[in-house]
Amino acid sequence: MTCATTASPQKGEKKDVIIIGSDHAAFELKEKLKTFLKERGLEVEDAGTYDETSMNYADIGKKVAGAISDNTYARGILLCGTGLGMSMVANRFSNVRAALCSDIFSVRMSRCHNDSNILVMGGRLVGDVLACELVREWLETPFEGGRHLDRIMSF
Ligand code: RB5
Repeated sequence: MTCATTASPQKGEKKDVIIIGSDHAAFELKEKLKTFLKERGLEVEDAGTYDETSMNYADIGKKVAGAISDNTYARGILLCGTGLGMSMVANRFSNVRAALCSDIFSVRMSRCHNDSNILVMGGRLVGDVLACELVREWLETPFEGGRHLDRIMSF
């Protein structure tokens, strides 16, 4: 299996900024990932939530997915307890390809073949170290384009 070097079509007014959001269940992971991203020289837009008070993940999911959908940002990260709720919300938005992942291979393929523009993880499933590795892989893996471009353009 190869992942060729075709870069993902650049879009988004704030293409060097990663928008990140979580609910209360993954608040702690969000804070750790913000540090990780900033240490890598990336700018981060925090869409909330801002503490561990119980809240509805959909409010944040809609905020982040909406900002990807309207091309304000090119890439986003969404986190909740399992990642399930956030991925369900995000994938209702046009132009959003949200990938719920907890392993490196799925992350890599979500970029190579699916050009995922939102990475979703479950804070109650993945530990901090794995989550950082998943984000690193997601940031570094290019979209393969070619036949995969036709496929993602078909839905
Ligand atoms: C919150 O308890 C939990 O339901 C939420 O974080 C998420 O896992 C939903 O899909």
